[in-house]
Order: sequence, then structure tokens, then C-alpha cells
Amino acid sequence: MDKLIVHGGATLRGAINISGSKNASLPILAATLLTAEDCIIRRVPDVSDTNYMIQILSALGGDVERSSGTVRATCADIVDHAPYELVRRMRASICVMGPLLARKGRCVVSLPGGCVIGDRPVDLHLRGLEALGAKIEFEGGNITLTAKDGLRGAEIDLRGTHGPTVLGTDNVMMAATLAEGITIIESAAAEPEVLDLANFLNSMGAKITGAGTRRIVIEGVKELHGIEHTVIPDRIEAGTFMAAAALAGDGVILRRVCRDHLKAITAAIEQSGHRVDFNEAGDICTVHRSEITRGVNIVTAPYPGYPTDMQAQMTALLATTPGISVIKDTIFPQRFMHCAELKRMGADIRVDNGTAVVHGVAQLSAAPVMASDLRASAALVLAALTAKGSTEISRLYHIDRGYEHIDEKLLMLGADVERVKDH
Ligand code: EPU
Repeated sequence: MDKLIVHGGATLRGAINISGSKNASLPILAATLLTAEDCIIRRVPDVSDTNYMIQILSALGGDVERSSGTVRATCADIVDHAPYELVRRMRASICVMGPLLARKGRCVVSLPGGCVIGDRPVDLHLRGLEALGAKIEFEGGNITLTAKDGLRGAEIDLRGTHGPTVLGTDNVMMAATLAEGITIIESAAAEPEVLDLANFLNSMGAKITGAGTRRIVIEGVKELHGIEHTVIPDRIEAGTFMAAAALAGDGVILRRVCRDHLKAITAAIEQSGHRVDFNEAGDICTVHRSEITRGVNIVTAPYPGYPTDMQAQMTALLATTPGISVIKDTIFPQRFMHCAELKRMGADIRVDNGTAVVHGVAQLSAAPVMASDLRASAALVLAALTAKGSTEISRLYHIDRGYEHIDEKLLMLGADVERVKDH
């Protein structure tokens, strides 16, 4: 198990490239199960979550290889049973359910287990697939879905108590591409990653309109074919480095970003007093750190609102921003594990009922801290950049799930970090 040692106090300068989106790559990789033909997907980040998905596709019978950022997947002859040993490692493996069901008329996937960021049910995924005609059975920790006579289009409302579901929308949209007739998904997730998946499916021959809005219409087709696709930039990785640049940077430049996807994050960073400038094309930004900063109020919300996946990192930035900040996570109200660790570094944060109240302090101080999930670990790295002393962040495997070579990118910007083996 690796840990990261961050020696606080270095100034970040220079430019890095932002990787392809993890959360777009995962369902797109799963969607290759919908065709027997070759698919080539570019800019798939080399992170452990995409590696798990590649292993799942291989275990299902796919012929998959990765060379640098490009994945070639051919799922000609596949089985319908996703192995528990692989599925249990990553909650997003649930998104093989829709494509397997559509292609094979049956699929067996183990129920995802608990998750440190809160209760993460799959009831909406199942409600959607059931509406398309799947029969659902639970046994031995597995969900079996069958649709012997194929799937049929239906009108489905996917709204849950915490809003729309991203992977649930993906699952139903993928299954509906091969269903007979028209499917309408109301209260669909409108995240850019859902739109990227829809663009991928449409290039394969699917007939999807409305992706990126709350209402998606899918006209089923008989079959899909192989294609090449380039994944969108990772807006959460970009946001994380924007926060790093706001904390410790001097004109840090981020390339291969998408301005339109970063509006809510840019607004929050600018409200705290820093400035973010984009080039005309909107694919490069420069973050200008300001000395005059102030607390902000943030409420996470489905896209285009402020993303829950950037909540922990913003909390880390606000921990040393003068004034009071209030951060409410409406999507995962229990996603505040990072706050206990930030408090060990001297942050003044009170968490109550899905809301963190942060009183900015002048400086944090290094402490041994433990990463609890992907974004919480990113928050600890950010906090450590300006903390006094050397912070040791253990359980680095959490950050390796979703940030491509984060230590190398930080080193390129001039941060003083070391990845070492934790014995
Ligand atoms: N929900 C239900 N029932 C369901 C599904 C979801 O009640 O059947 C609830 C969840 O408990 C949550 C809300 O709906 O309160 C939204 O969850 P959603 O289904 O949208 O989450 P997801 O699709 O499982 C994706 C991202 C997460 C991100 C969320 C929210 C991927 C692979 N994962 O998860 O990313 O936090 O959307 O935007 O796309 C991360 O990258 O760190 C991460 C956790």
C-alpha cells in the first residue's frame, strides 16, 4: 500500500494536461458490451477504476487491451454473469447491467456493497430496467435480470429522493438502445458524462435525443456497431487542480479542459476571491491565486449545479480561506469523512446534518491522515500543499482509483511530494 508525503509550502507553477474523464470512461467501456464489433476509445485515464472495468469486460469474454490512453475492446462472444470478485471492488460495475441485459436477454450482477460516502441503493436502476420488461430476482447477494422476449420501450421517471441518478440513467439508456420501440426517460441525469455516453451510443448507431437534458428519448434499433471515440476531459480532476492552484499556485495553467463543464466550479472558486481565465476556445484555463479571499456558501446539486464530487476539495480550500463558509451536500449528505481528517490538521469545521460550517484558519499543520474515499483523499492532498510541515496521507489506493498519476502531475507543477511504500 502506498502513501503520499506532501511537504507543504511549495508554490505551484507551470502547466499540466487534464486527463480524460473517469466517470465518462466507465459507462462507455461498459457500452462496448452492446456490440460484437471492435470499439476504440481514446483518453481513457489510467486509473484503477478503469482497470477494474477492463478486467470485468475481459471476465465477461471481451477481448480488451489498453495501450497508453487508448482502449480497444471487442465483446464478440460474452457471458451474462459478472464475477463477484471484480464487481465488489467498484460500485460503478453496476453499469454493465443495462448493456448485458440488452445484448444477452439476461444478466447476473452482484449487489454493490456499502460505500463510505453514504447509502448508495440501485432501486432506480432496477425500476427503469423493470419498466423495459426485465424480470428481477435476488438470490445469494446477486441480482438476476431476465427479458426472454427482449426489452420493450417504456416511459420511465427516474427521479429519486436525492434527485436524478447518473449511472441509473446510463443503465436504462444503454438497455433502451436495443429495446423494441421508444423509451422516454423523464428526470434523467444531465451530467456531461451522460451526454458523452449518448454521443458514443449514437455513433454506434443508436437513436438518442435529449441527452444532457432532463428528458431523454431513445428509439430502439436492431443492432449497434463498433466505433472510435475520444472521452471528454475530467471536469473533477480539472476542478481539483483549480482548487490546488487557488491554494498554492502562481498562475497555474490547465490544458485540455472544457469551460462549459466547469461553470459551477469556476464560479465557486471566483466567489472565494481567485480568478480563472479561459482561452477563447475554452479548453485552457489559468488560475490566478488571490491574497484577498472570502468564505463562500455552496450547495451541491445535480449538473449544472455544483458537483458533489468537488465538495471535499472545496472544503479543503475553504479551510484556510478567511471568513465562514457553509457547504451542504444534498446528494450524499454523509460525504464528510474528510472533515475529521482536516480537523486533525487544525481546520475549524463543524459537520451537522449534511452541512459543514467552516471557519477559515490562517494555516493548517501537517499530521498523519488517512484517505477514506477518492475525493476525500484529494481534499487531504490539497490541504497538505499549504500546511506547515510534512503530511503523510495513507491509503493512497483511494486516490489512484480516479486521479491519473496525481503525484507526477503535482511534481510537474513544482509541489514537493513523494510516493512511498507504507509498511
Ligand atoms: N440513488 C438512489 N437510488 C438509485 C441510485 C441512486 O436513491 O438507484 C441516490 C444516491 O444514493 C444519491 C443520488 O441518488 O443520493 C445520486 O446518485 P447517482 O446514482 O447519481 O450516483 P452514481 O451514478 O452511482 C455517479 C458518479 C459519482 C458521483 C454521483 C453523483 C460515476 C462512476 N460515479 O455515481 O462519482 O458522486 O454520480 O454525481 O459516474 C466519484 O467520482 O468520486 C463519484 C463517487
